[in-house]
Amino acid sequence: MTVLRTARLLMREWKDDDVDPIARMVEDPRVGKYLSKFRNRAAVQAWIEAEREQFRRKGYGLFAVERSDPPEFVGFCGLTDVDYEAHFTPAVEIGWRLQPDCWGHGYASEAAAAVLDFGFEALKLNEIVANSSVDNLASRIVMERIGMSHDPKDDFDHPLKAPDDVLRRQVLYRITLQDWHRRRQAQLAPSSPVFGNAGG
Ligand SMILES: CC(C)(COP(=O)(O)OP(=O)(O)OC[C@H]1O[C@@H](n2cnc3c(N)ncnc32)[C@H](O)[C@@H]1OP(=O)(O)O)[C@@H](O)C(=O)NCCC(=O)NCCS
Repeated sequence: MTVLRTARLLMREWKDDDVDPIARMVEDPRVGKYLSKFRNRAAVQAWIEAEREQFRRKGYGLFAVERSDPPEFVGFCGLTDVDYEAHFTPAVEIGWRLQPDCWGHGYASEAAAAVLDFGFEALKLNEIVANSSVDNLASRIVMERIGMSHDPKDDFDHPLKAPDDVLRRQVLYRITLQDWHRRRQAQLAPSSPVFGNAGG
């Protein structure tokens, strides 16, 4: 079973008793503002089962995200195959949803950076994309913080959303294996050399 760890977070596959915290999170109107909603608890249960199946079949999916100290359910973050046709598909996308108590602590960016490492290092993907409705600024900031880039020419109308849906217009962000390597090298590079005391 795949587990990812970061400084503050544990990311794991799904347990039956995750239904309650997921149901609470997705019922919150702040979380659903830019997203399609689950109809009821049975839909959440079915979604968890589908995620388990995806991990079994493909080795990736959306991870349950927990804060490790103290242990607390934070939300989810991970990788899925884009399930519609668009100019950038087939593609693997990164996505996230956190419960509002946990917003604003950098958890989404921390979890998402670990998921990119997993996607490029362990799964050997060549590119990962992300999309959100144009106005979802919190999500777009996370995409930028983890090194994804946005070309307005890539923006698209979501084919599964109705023409009058205000969330239909989507921005697309991308990061390639090469971009990720370059960013990794820059992060690992020693900081500017410190020279001896010039005044001495
Ligand atoms: C998107 C989401 C995961 C971000 O979570 P988060 O914990 O706030 O993320 P981070 O703390 O890593 O960074 C978010 C940044 O966006 C900023 N931000 C949040 N809302 C903003 C807004 N409306 N306008 C501008 N900046 C905003 C935050 O202040 C933070 O920046 P800071 O660290 O400089 O303060 C969370 O808002 C969420 O779950 N939203 C609902 C579900 C959703 O929309 N998922 C994405 C679908 S594409």
